[in-house]
This record gives sequence, C-alpha cells and structure tokens, in this order.
Amino acid sequence: METLLIQEFRADHQRITGSLLRLRKAIQQGDIPQVRAILGGADTLLGAHFKFEERHLYPALAGFVGDGGVGQLIREHDDIFQGVGELIELARKTAWTTADKDAALRSFGLVGDHPENCDDLCRYIVQLPAAQQDSLLDLMQTIRRERPAFSAYAVERQMRSRPRDVAADSLGAP
Ligand SMILES: [Fe+2]
Repeated sequence: METLLIQEFRADHQRITGSLLRLRKAIQQGDIPQVRAILGGADTLLGAHFKFEERHLYPALAGFVGDGGVGQLIREHDDIFQGVGELIELARKTAWTTADKDAALRSFGLVGDHPENCDDLCRYIVQLPAAQQDSLLDLMQTIRRERPAFSAYAVERQMRSRPRDVAADSLGAP
C-alpha cells in the first residue's frame, strides 16, 4: 500500500501532467490567453512542488543517491525553471510570430518529462522510515499552504545557489 506521502507526491505529478497536456495543446494552437491562464493556474502548484523537492525531499534521499545525486537532481530542475520562465515571458505577448511559437514549443520541451522521471523516486521514498515520511508529508503540506509562486521560488533558488557558484569559481581560479 502506498503511504500518504507517496500518494500526495504522485497526485502532484498527476496534476502537473494535466496542466502540461493542456499547456502543450494551447501552445500548439497559439492560444496565448489559454497559455497564460494555465501557467497562472499552475503557478503555486509548481512553486510548492519544486520547493518541497529541492528543500526537503531530495536531501532526504541522500542515503540512496548520495550528496552528488541530490545536487544532480536539483540541477536537473534548472531546465524546468528556464523553460517555465521563458513560457511566462512569451505568454506576456499579445501575439506570437512563428518563431515565438517555435520558441514556446522548445521551452515546453524542457519541462515535459518531469512527472514521469520524478515519479521514479518513489522506489526510494518507500524505503524511508515511516516517521521520516510523516515529517516530509508535514513539510509538503506546510509549503502547499504557503502557496509559493513559481517565479518567487525561482528567484529564491537562484540566490541560494549563488554562494556555491562563487565558491566553486574561486576554487577553480588559477
Ligand atoms: Fe517532482
């Protein structure tokens, strides 16, 4: 039987998949108001999902994937943040050229496979002790209640990664 944490985690991915399917159709149809509406409707769903994963879930999986694996999982989100950010910008336009529509489809391509790939992590989550899963569920619900905007969390994660980048740069300097 799936734990509540896994049920809620999968439910997030199902909701994201639903939004992505509608988003792809709207982009293909060049329906900018609909693209804008879908992105607006999914804003806090995406913000809360990625914030929970990066701040709490992925670090909790370090025992399975290692610290390097946690970093890799978080870096894999960079494409998603880039793709959604580009789509938000494109959705601000009143009309799309063919090039804009192509750009929107390319940006969508950076986002589309997250639910399936990320659901694979359930094979690790199920192995976490019950008390730790309960704590993670509490953290997930807390972040959901905060309703973080995707773009706000995008800025937050950029600020958090900056000191590490600076440190890495200085270490790599001759
Ligand atoms: Fe996910």
